[in-house]
Amino acid sequence: MSGWGPPPWASTQLPAVEEALGRWVPGAATDDLAQAMQHAVLGGGKRLRPLLVLATAEAVSGNVLQTLGLAQRDGLLRCAVAVELIHAYSLIHDDMPCMDNDVLRRGQPTVHVKYGEAVALLAGDALQTLAFELLAGADASWPAATRLHWVQTLAIAAGAGGMCGGQAIDLAHVGQAMTQPALERMHALKTGALLHASVMLGAVAGGASAPQLEHLSHFGRRLGLAFQVVDDVLDVTADTATLGKTAGKDEQHNKPTYVALLGLDKAQRYAEQVTDEALRALRASACASPEALQGLAQWVTRRQH
Ligand code: IPE
Ligand code: IPE
Ligand code: MG
Ligand code: MG
Ligand code: MG
Repeated sequence: MSGWGPPPWASTQLPAVEEALGRWVPGAATDDLAQAMQHAVLGGGKRLRPLLVLATAEAVSGNVLQTLGLAQRDGLLRCAVAVELIHAYSLIHDDMPCMDNDVLRRGQPTVHVKYGEAVALLAGDALQTLAFELLAGADASWPAATRLHWVQTLAIAAGAGGMCGGQAIDLAHVGQAMTQPALERMHALKTGALLHASVMLGAVAGGASAPQLEHLSHFGRRLGLAFQVVDDVLDVTADTATLGKTAGKDEQHNKPTYVALLGLDKAQRYAEQVTDEALRALRASACASPEALQGLAQWVTRRQH
C-alpha cells in the first residue's frame, strides 16, 4: 500500500483545531504540570479525532465551521478538543514505564522522560478532567441534554468499557497468543472506542437522525478497528523518523498485534477490507456531505505515520 498525506480538507480545518487546543490547554512557564500538559497536546499529532468530529458534523449538516454561529462553532470545537485531550492523556500513560515504556512520541521525548513519572501521571489525569470541563461548559445555546450526551459518550468511550479496558487487555496479553475475535475486541476498545466517540460527538452535534446515527456508529467502529490495525502495520513497515515514535517496539515487547496474528500482508489487506466496510456504512447513512469524512477514512488506511 502506498502512502498518502492528509486530505486537503484537513488542512483547511487544522488551524481552527490547533488554535482551540492552544487556547484551552493552559501553559505557565514556571509550572511543570501545565508545561507537561502542553507538551503532550501541542507537540504535533495528526489530530485525526478532532478532524473526525468536524467531518462527521459536516457530513450530516454541511460546512459547519463556516456556517455555524459563534456559540455553535465553539461547542463543536469543544467536542473536537475534548476527544483529543483524552487521546493525549492516553498516550502519556501508554508511554510510561508501567505500560509500553516508550521514550519517543511525535518526535519528542515522552512526557515522563521530560517531566518525570509523577508529573506525567498528573498531566494525564488533568487532561482527562479538562476534557469533561470543556464539554460541560459549552454555551447554553446547546441544550443541556446535548451537552450531557457528549459527556456520557466520551466518558463511556474512555473508561473501563472503552479505552482503559482495552489497554488493560493489551497489558494482560503481552507474550500471549490471542484469537482474532479477542484481538479485535481489544483493538475496538483501546483505540476504536475514542474514534467511534469522535464520530458520534460530531454526528450528534450535526443533528443526525436516528437511522443516520446507527450507520455512522457502524462506520466509526469499523474505522476505529482499521486505524489500530494500521498502527500495528506501521510499527513494522515505517521507520522511527517517519513515525515520530520508536519503530519495531511491538515485536520487541511481544505485543499482541494484527501483524503478530496474521502476518504483515494479511494484516494490511485486513485493514483495507475493514476500511471498505466503514465506507459502505458511511454510504448507507446517506449523509448530505460525506466527502470530507470519506477522505479521512481513506487516509486512515493509506497514512504513512
Ligand atoms: C497513536 O494514535 C496511538 C493509537 C491510538 C494507536 P495516533 O496515530 O492518532 O497518534 P497522533 O495523535 O497522530 O500522534
Ligand atoms: C495505544 O496503542 C492505544 C492507546 C494509547 C489508548 P499503542 O500502544 O499501539 O500506541 P502507540 O503505538 O504507542 O502509539
Ligand atoms: Mg500500548
Ligand atoms: Mg504504545
Ligand atoms: Mg502501536
